[in-house]
Amino acid sequence: MNHPEVIVCVGGGGVGKTTASAAIALSLANSGRRVLIVSIDPARRLADAMGVELGTQARALSLDSGSGQLYGLMPNPDDALRTFVEFLFEEEPAAVERLLQNRLYQVLEAAVPGIHELAAISLTWRAIVEHEVDAVVIDTAPSRNAVDFISYPKSLAKLLGGRAVGWMAAIGKRTSIVSPDDRMGRVEQLLVRALGPVARDVAGLFAEMARVRKRFILLNEHTSKLLLRPETRYFLVASSTAAARDDVGYLIKKLGKLDMTPQAILLNSAFVPEREWAHVLEAASVTTAAIDEVLSTLTLDREARQRATARFTKDFSKRYPNLPQVLLPFVEAVEPRSIVHALAQYLDFPALVASR
Ligand SMILES: Nc1ncnc2c1ncn2[C@@H]1O[C@H](COP(=O)(O)OP(=O)(O)OP(=O)(O)O)[C@@H](O)[C@H]1O
Ligand SMILES: [Mg+2]
Repeated sequence: MNHPEVIVCVGGGGVGKTTASAAIALSLANSGRRVLIVSIDPARRLADAMGVELGTQARALSLDSGSGQLYGLMPNPDDALRTFVEFLFEEEPAAVERLLQNRLYQVLEAAVPGIHELAAISLTWRAIVEHEVDAVVIDTAPSRNAVDFISYPKSLAKLLGGRAVGWMAAIGKRTSIVSPDDRMGRVEQLLVRALGPVARDVAGLFAEMARVRKRFILLNEHTSKLLLRPETRYFLVASSTAAARDDVGYLIKKLGKLDMTPQAILLNSAFVPEREWAHVLEAASVTTAAIDEVLSTLTLDREARQRATARFTKDFSKRYPNLPQVLLPFVEAVEPRSIVHALAQYLDFPALVASR
């Protein structure tokens, strides 16, 4: 399998990550590529942006043109734990059932940070292989911690390699573990006493988890390949607000710590394209006060947006002189999917990635 090109959109809340991700994916697919778009945003807005139902199974989406393919995947946060466990015990349905019966199973959900992200990564990998895609676009959650999940599998693998887990796994292998017995070492006996009646569940859970260390390592590799290769392209989506600018700064630092350099800033809703109909009205020989007022309000609005954009592009250039900025238009449409289609027509992806 050739490694797919990976594009990740990150940024503050509401700046247009989902819209920009969908537009990038659509424009790539329109240009003939086999593309997978994945959203790990629990808000599940990708379905609106694509205008179709999406779920845990990647499904084929329709294109505007061209011979490419577009698949959409939107893992459900409510199914995350089950999906994750199914990935870990892929060839062992009996172990999945045993875990589901375990009274402590639900504890895992609270104990493992980023379980939804981990489930999403395992599903993404499955879809890449299944549909032989050559590009993957990832839409992330509106959180400053959006890039934290990159290191989750590593910390989990470390946790599972820890001593306590080794003990619990050893206890779990014994058949009778409800009370401490003579065959146990002192530490094991203490653990079982301390845990009391749930000892069997705890030990059982860890015994199962310790057996899948290899799958954790695999998940870790998948994550690194998707998110941490130097070729992975991170786009910082922003709008012309102080909050979005601060989020960009924070994310650049965070990516830097992971040795990742962002590709570009996508400044969304940065300008209003020329309105043909406004020119027609302006040129009309007959006009009314109401029309004049509408036209002047629109002009003022357009100019205000232009000024805000100029302020922020100047600020970004000063702070990050080597980081290209790409301005995306404000699209006057109500339907999220119409906005995505308009932006996809507008985006020139080869130019976008050549910018660095
Ligand atoms: N260029 C644009 N022109 C007009 N409307 C836009 C544009 N980009 C995004 N929007 C609209 O703004 C809203 C927020 O966009 P979107 O959901 O893509 O942001 P997000 O960053 O993914 O949000 P969240 O942080 O909640 O995940 C949506 O209603 C979307 O349709
Ligand atoms: Mg979103």
